[in-house]
Amino acid sequence: VSAALNVPAIMARKGGDPLVCLTAYTTPIARLADRHCDIILVGDSVGMVLHGLDSTLGVTLEMMILHGQAVRRGVDKALMVVDMPFGSYEESPEQAFRNAARLMAETGCEAVKLEGGASMIETISFLTSRGVPVMGHIGLTPQAVNMFGGYRVQGRGTAGETIRRDAQAVADAGAFSVVIEKVPESLARSVTEDVAVPTIGIGASPACDGQILVVDDMLGMFSDFRPKFVKRYGNLATEAEEAIASYARDVRSRSFPDESHVFGDDEPLGDRKAG
Ligand code: KIV
Ligand code: NA
Repeated sequence: VSAALNVPAIMARKGGDPLVCLTAYTTPIARLADRHCDIILVGDSVGMVLHGLDSTLGVTLEMMILHGQAVRRGVDKALMVVDMPFGSYEESPEQAFRNAARLMAETGCEAVKLEGGASMIETISFLTSRGVPVMGHIGLTPQAVNMFGGYRVQGRGTAGETIRRDAQAVADAGAFSVVIEKVPESLARSVTEDVAVPTIGIGASPACDGQILVVDDMLGMFSDFRPKFVKRYGNLATEAEEAIASYARDVRSRSFPDESHVFGDDEPLGDRKAG
């Protein structure tokens, strides 16, 4: 609730200045993102990006709470949203409420996100009528990877009609915004024109009301994952590896630590200022 950007303010951006959204999982990245973003999402992508899982299916509520707490300490301007992980909301609206309430109470996030279209109407309306703002997520929904058989583009051809209905259903049920993932530009454009709430695209064209990316993808934190919809704004994996290689060389050659890192017998206790 500390957000300067609250849910109504985000909704008011429909058709206006694009919403800048990014994921974060840790305090230092959340602090940086908070200076530039409107929405910070603690995505369940954390399982793949930071924990080495090969899908988001193994992510738990406890993981989301722990990373949510870390992100909360870095965010005070943007709206903070936390993903509901697989298995924490699909069973019933009551289950969803119980777990959404835990996420909000234990992390201090302002909203939750859950995947699914028409099938989630009842749950979204149950949550939103009880004080839990919900961000929807349609198109490619990674928690359903086993139904899709992979992470392919969704909504091509006649399948677009289903996604159009999903978007409308999620908005009508009370979601304050909806993520649209990996669909053709034409579909993203018509969905954005049709629904009354902001659409947040990922692999869904600039026609959306906002954009989101996984922060580690856009920073280039690893070198082996390069989906078409990600633009790399950094190359941190290369920089980190060079730093680690230099450290290893220095230790092996005994050139680190040098005298500037060593304590004498009569030096005052404690660390010097960084630098
Ligand atoms: O988990 C995640 O990071 C997400 C966004 C990419 C939308 O759901
Ligand atoms: Na997610």
